[in-house]
Amino acid sequence: MTSTAVAHPNIALVKYWGKRDDALILPDTGSLSLTLDVFPTTTRVTVDPALAADEIVFDGAVATGSPAARITAFLDLVRAQAGTAARARVETRNSVPTGAGLASSASGFAALAVAAADAYGLDLGERDLSRLARRGSGSACRSIIGGTAIWHAGTDDATSYAEHIAGPDLGMVIAVVDAAAKAVSSREAMRRTRDTSPYADAWVQAAEADLALMQRAFAACDLTAIGELTESNALRMHAAIMGCRPPIRYLAPQSIGLFDAAARLRAAGLEAYATADAGPNVVFVCRAADVGAVRDALTVDDAAGMPADRLIAAQAGPGAHLVEAAA
Ligand code: PMV
Repeated sequence: MTSTAVAHPNIALVKYWGKRDDALILPDTGSLSLTLDVFPTTTRVTVDPALAADEIVFDGAVATGSPAARITAFLDLVRAQAGTAARARVETRNSVPTGAGLASSASGFAALAVAAADAYGLDLGERDLSRLARRGSGSACRSIIGGTAIWHAGTDDATSYAEHIAGPDLGMVIAVVDAAAKAVSSREAMRRTRDTSPYADAWVQAAEADLALMQRAFAACDLTAIGELTESNALRMHAAIMGCRPPIRYLAPQSIGLFDAAARLRAAGLEAYATADAGPNVVFVCRAADVGAVRDALTVDDAAGMPADRLIAAQAGPGAHLVEAAA
């Protein structure tokens, strides 16, 4: 039984940062994102009862240690649902720089959820696939959904899932400040925020309020409100993270400079707003039709210091889907 799935990363406009249940990956708060049409992950899963252990190949190299253990733990969830102990061969190709805060875990676990569910013979709808992907990496539940998605925090495994949310047509421009893997994983940093940041509770309250405001801004297709909330929400998340002890700081000097660049674009009449995940890269949110103009404006903004080949234009992309179904 072989199935292959493709999934794309998503970038949150209201961030997920913090779990109330580490085992089930139930978030403290809901979040809202755009799934992109760039940097796909392609994952092929072959169920093979002859295998003694799962075989995991990541970008052509056999995976070991904790990345492999995470995938096996995820497959165990699928096996439990399918009622089988059969092991699998997993081959994944990422075109996202892994671990650089460009959401490779989101596209990775969304693609794995869709391919593994099919290869193991589970017939899951979008909601159940989203719940399953969430168990691999929280933000992966949103990459099951195409375009804009809201992840309902929920109160248990059944009620914590992502679904489509209607709003304006958005696009993004990704500024790759540094494609190297981040020093502290988001998993560890979330834990440290909860355990040591004096701003952790304030973040949770603010994120809840931001999500309610963002839902209103989406319903009104109000790009200005969406953008202002996006930028503020990201900075609030980073403030809570910087409050950790020992501190964690994901934003590089150039990342901060790119938030200033967004302000310069707006002052010149081009609406663009900056956000950043758990890494130094900055993502600009704008109207879908403005993506080319935002990229061009950033290319000629000398203070931003971004060469054209590190500015990636993206539009809304599809949800995770099969490209090869089990026979
Ligand atoms: O799903 P994780 O554990 O990789 O966490 C992702 C957290 C952020 O990317 C920083 C925010 C988000 O909502 O995607």
